[in-house]
Amino acid sequence: MPLLTVTRRLTFNAAHRIHNPALSDDENARLFGKCNSPNWHGHNYTLEVSVTGEPDPVSGYVIDLAHLKQIVERSLLDHVDHHNLNLDVPEMAGTNPTAENIILMFWRVLEPAIRPRTLSRLKLWETENNHVEYDGR
Ligand code: NI
Repeated sequence: MPLLTVTRRLTFNAAHRIHNPALSDDENARLFGKCNSPNWHGHNYTLEVSVTGEPDPVSGYVIDLAHLKQIVERSLLDHVDHHNLNLDVPEMAGTNPTAENIILMFWRVLEPAIRPRTLSRLKLWETENNHVEYDGR
């Protein structure tokens, strides 16, 4: 049977501050620039969630993408959208909310939520120009 990958795109927005408390204020400012601004800033994020599998013989779907959207919203984005990633999201506690660390947290939440289907890739766009992707390795 052929293996196919389907992808759902979702958007959310959130505030954050890139800051490492182990470093001095000067070092943080030098390392992170505007992203270290003390009173937060926001991004309009785009998340792409990919699931890989064989198409179901009855529906012809790898996964119903409307169902996938529901899983991602209920298990993850409802707790993140319009929130402050540093203050409001327990899964990010103690973690510097770079796109890299955000996508790792997203994987930890989504991989079990999507089972028994296979989450094969996440892609997180922080701006139009910058994105990070992760395939679970
Ligand atoms: Ni930022």
